[in-house]
Amino acid sequence: MATRREVLKALGAAGASAALLPLKAFGASNDSSGVASFTQPLNIPPVLTPTSTTSSTDYYDMQMTQTTASIIPGKSTPIIGYNGMTPGPTIKARVGREAVVNFYNGLPATTLGGATGNTVVHLHGGHTASASDGFPTDYINTGSNRTYTYPNNQLPATLWYHDHVMNDTAPHVWYGLAGFYLLTDSVEDGLNLPSGAYEVPLVIQDRRFNTSGALVYSGTNNGETGDAVLVNGVVQPYFNIAKRKYRFRILNGSNSRLYRLALSNGQSFKVLGMEGGLLAAPVTVTSITLAPAERADVVIDFSGIAVGSNVTLRNTLVGSTSTVYNLMRFNVTTTATDTSVVPATLRPLTRLNAADAVTTRTFTLGGGGGMMGGGTWTINGAAFNPNTVIASPRLGTTEIWRFTNSGMMMGNMNHPMHIHGVMFQILDISGAAPAATHAGWKDTVDVPAGGSARVIMKFTDYTGKYVLHCHNLEHEDNAMMARFDVVP
Ligand code: C2O
Ligand code: CU
Ligand code: CU
Repeated sequence: MATRREVLKALGAAGASAALLPLKAFGASNDSSGVASFTQPLNIPPVLTPTSTTSSTDYYDMQMTQTTASIIPGKSTPIIGYNGMTPGPTIKARVGREAVVNFYNGLPATTLGGATGNTVVHLHGGHTASASDGFPTDYINTGSNRTYTYPNNQLPATLWYHDHVMNDTAPHVWYGLAGFYLLTDSVEDGLNLPSGAYEVPLVIQDRRFNTSGALVYSGTNNGETGDAVLVNGVVQPYFNIAKRKYRFRILNGSNSRLYRLALSNGQSFKVLGMEGGLLAAPVTVTSITLAPAERADVVIDFSGIAVGSNVTLRNTLVGSTSTVYNLMRFNVTTTATDTSVVPATLRPLTRLNAADAVTTRTFTLGGGGGMMGGGTWTINGAAFNPNTVIASPRLGTTEIWRFTNSGMMMGNMNHPMHIHGVMFQILDISGAAPAATHAGWKDTVDVPAGGSARVIMKFTDYTGKYVLHCHNLEHEDNAMMARFDVVP
């Protein structure tokens, strides 16, 4: 572990000095990519085609390789890709139909950023058997493959797959190992939400480049941030759209940055759900904050925007002069008929009842080096040990888990806590009921600095080892993770 961090620190120091001298072309943005805002078209990751199908199962093949991407015009950016691209291809899965994905690891022994070439794949939000969950030490060694089975016996939702290897998840994701996994069913189809070309996944990731166009990763202990925004792998793209409603499945796929999403014209939009699928009813908001790994399933109605005009999606957590303020631009270029709707009710939501919980467990989040940096992040005072089981919930029972964020005197940080294998509901955040947008099924809860959160969940179907961890990926790699086993 120490060796990796020393290597990364050395690389980071070199990268940081290069990043201080960005080449600026006329009209270029001030971020390290040098790409002018809204000059690159949005990329929509291709949908992966099964290699074969049976009456019950779709079989897929993917490979992980180190390759290059064209992110900055005239430059070539080394990446770690799924099927040669980042984000990886989108898997479209159907509730009740199993997906079996064979991942081949074609990476060298040491990859970009000095990270290990061994990988692990995790379907984030997936309700899967332990053996297919991507436990951090269930390696796919370089030159090997592993098959993951995703039963898709869960509510339809916006899921994503990404690397989860012990100690090096953060650089692997930074350099490209993430993609969408969209799970749908006939009930959701029947709602007549915007679909087809009008349903678009958007993953937001901040990155940093050096002058030759390579990604710069320093592995800073508090969480890596970049100064350039990528949406679906493109720097501040534009998206030519029709004057009508669109459904966007938005993922904060950043290592550690939070975004408060809002539109430049101040218009409201409807939140249909977050990580675990649809809310009982849509919630109208003018902004929504996403911590790392959180998703927002939203409908934006552009029918009030004149053809020839545009609307910018912004991150209002930062000031208007920040290079991560403008995320992407919607150019309304045409009209289109729109027979889609956002129904007043979406799907009945079963509320878990605190009275049904057999226990409440408390997990204290701490560690970190504060402003000194470099310290291990901990859960209940301990660094992640893949052999130490810190909770053993019984299959079929409901539990409440309480996260308390003790923080440090300085550099106190929020911790977006994620639990594998289950979807949960938030009971409260620092004692207050969650916002209506956050009151449905979720798999990540942002535990505020100095605050707490309680979530409730039921452990069903699978026994075995899983993890809970902070989804600030540098916190995760620096040990803010713990193993729990679901036991019979
Ligand atoms: Cu998205 Cu355990 O992670
Ligand atoms: Cu997960
Ligand atoms: Cu954290």
